[in-house]
Amino acid sequence: MPAAQAPVAQPVPARPVELNVNGRTYSLQLEPRVTLLDALREYAGLMGTKKGCDRGQCGACTVIANGRRINSCLTLAVMHEGETITTVEGLASNGVLSPLQRTFIEHDAFQCGYCTPGQLCSATALLEEFRNGAASVVTADVRRRPTQLSDDEIRERMSGNLCRCGAYANIVAAISAAHQGHAANASAAGAAPHVDQGQRDRPDNPDQA
Ligand code: FES
Ligand code: FES
Repeated sequence: MPAAQAPVAQPVPARPVELNVNGRTYSLQLEPRVTLLDALREYAGLMGTKKGCDRGQCGACTVIANGRRINSCLTLAVMHEGETITTVEGLASNGVLSPLQRTFIEHDAFQCGYCTPGQLCSATALLEEFRNGAASVVTADVRRRPTQLSDDEIRERMSGNLCRCGAYANIVAAISAAHQGHAANASAAGAAPHVDQGQRDRPDNPDQA
């Protein structure tokens, strides 16, 4: 009696997917199971975003989607239609490196560079998160806007990005320098001190006691 044959899985047809990456629209034909990481690298030709573990553990594939940093290996491309996606190729502007890219160079914050695109995207979003008052697990009082981006804050907030070369100390220094440079520029421009309305109005704010 012939052995029963296992059913053959039918391929899922590709469908048109439009991704907005670094200010440009990419019209792609993708199977629904294609990850955002593979769509960027293999279909859009943006090889800057790196594949390390392909399972959400190393952060090499970090990109920014609608302002939030995500592991692009853990999400499907079709889920990101209509979003604004930034990869490492989109951090520079008209050929001018971002302040963070410059401090990475100044502080020698990489060796082989494989983790660097993910580190840069993650740190870019980190700086914005901190400016917006997001707390981390090492923030002393999560009811208040953290006042200082300490090295501990940076280490915690970058804990999802691994570096096999161990360039961590210089990565922290580079992020700190970029943050301080931004703060100094804001101060020189006469920016008014930011007042977090939400914090001021909170009834549990001890400053109001
Ligand atoms: S490749 Fe995505 S987290 Fe490692
Ligand atoms: S610089 Fe080599 S893995 Fe980070």
